[in-house]
Amino acid sequence: MSYDWLNALPKVELHLHLEGSLEPELMFELAQRNNIDLPFQTVDQVRKAYEFSKLQDFLDIYYQGANVLVVEQDFYDLVWAYLEKCHQQNVVHVEPFFDPQTHTDRGISFEVIINGITQALKDGELKWGISSELIMCFLRHDSEEAAFAVLAQAEPFLDQIVGVGLDSSERGHPPEKFSRVFAKARELGLLTVAHAGEEGPAEYIWTAINDLKVSRIDHGVRAIDDAKLMNHLVATKIPLTVCPLSNTKLCVFDDMSEHNILQMLEEGVCVTVNSDDPAYFGGYMTENFVALAQDLAMSKEQAKKLVRNSIEASFADAARKQKILALLD
Ligand code: HPA
Ligand code: ZN
Repeated sequence: MSYDWLNALPKVELHLHLEGSLEPELMFELAQRNNIDLPFQTVDQVRKAYEFSKLQDFLDIYYQGANVLVVEQDFYDLVWAYLEKCHQQNVVHVEPFFDPQTHTDRGISFEVIINGITQALKDGELKWGISSELIMCFLRHDSEEAAFAVLAQAEPFLDQIVGVGLDSSERGHPPEKFSRVFAKARELGLLTVAHAGEEGPAEYIWTAINDLKVSRIDHGVRAIDDAKLMNHLVATKIPLTVCPLSNTKLCVFDDMSEHNILQMLEEGVCVTVNSDDPAYFGGYMTENFVALAQDLAMSKEQAKKLVRNSIEASFADAARKQKILALLD
């Protein structure tokens, strides 16, 4: 069966960690450029290491990979490679995450990171018309104090950031650990999102909504365990940025045939499709949609509804949303 129509479909990506788009080939190139030792000899060895049984297995390797990013050009090259993929797959609007603490903790300046990223995003819009909004994530395994420190570093660059998010190890780090720093971010005019209900319980989705006042939930697949929460998501239209291949790679679901995204879609939740960390999880946007077509018999109508949800859930302005909707219909 050909799934070319899924590649051709104009798409919007709302849950993508730029550091998670670092392909092994670029990892080696940057390691060489920056004289950094990798614990791998070949690209094949790297790919073989990508066997995960839980989120933390992945995070350990993901943070190690990010060590090759040192100068502004490295961040530029990382983002550029992702945008090339977006162009090939007809992804027309993106709202990527970056994890500044992963880099500032190694002595890289915030300015180097954000300048490399935003220059590539600007060039991608000029060359391919891919619009974007950038989201800065706090590492939830780290302290509230560390999150406040990175927010202070971001202040001179707020015109380049639409919002803040929350990622890394979920269990044992509930959203409310960051209530005060998210309140400060909102005071600064930033929107908020948070990873919740990936490995953590539905309760974390409630506290992300009530304490962090998020506009969207990243992942959120555990919402299905709580009927009251499902009703709340349907009534309020709070979107979930779901990542099918990520969820099977990290054993959130044992098999794609058990994924609940289409069930939630049919129940009226604003679910969207995203790739999360495509270099680590075996695919970008098209591959995620193809997985749903193959293993869950997703229909064309469902695929279009998922994209329509992404457009509505995005932080693009009304004019841009209209343009993307027109591409879809
Ligand atoms: N979950 C939590 N933290 C992350 C992820 C994820 O899927 N990807 C990168 N950081
Ligand atoms: Zn994520």
